[in-house]
Amino acid sequence: TVRMANIAIAADHAGVGLKAELVAELKKLGHAPTDFGPMDTRSVDYPDYATKVTSAVNDGSASLGVLICGTGIGMSMTANKVHGIRAALCHSEFDARAARAHNDANVLCLGARTTGPGLAAEILKVFLAGAFEGGRHQTRIDKVTAIEAKR
Ligand code: RB5
Repeated sequence: TVRMANIAIAADHAGVGLKAELVAELKKLGHAPTDFGPMDTRSVDYPDYATKVTSAVNDGSASLGVLICGTGIGMSMTANKVHGIRAALCHSEFDARAARAHNDANVLCLGARTTGPGLAAEILKVFLAGAFEGGRHQTRIDKVTAIEAKR
């Protein structure tokens, strides 16, 4: 369980509205969100915002990251190109629980056009409360990391 965590969050133009709702939710929960933007709905490119969050997670200034685009797909594809990042696109609390317990995900991706704000807030809460189970799951993550090291 992550308590009073620094959470890095960013979006693209499609995710700005949901981002604002989740920043408010994170503050309400006592976390310290760092909002890497954007702050308006002008069209931007999701990779430019994905890397702000992945850098914060990798340099330790954030313990977890949240990335939002229209579907969450562009954000998750981009984030998973970055060494050290395990980004999970979640559409349910079940996804969010498994992403932490089994996959030790360090970035949550959400689709603002696919997941409503109420559900997204619940997914976020479950993700933050999750804990990695290790054991057989660590063996699998080690194999993923070995693949990552080859490129
Ligand atoms: C923007 O229209 C949309 O393509 C983007 O937000 C995202 O869904 C990409 O994966």
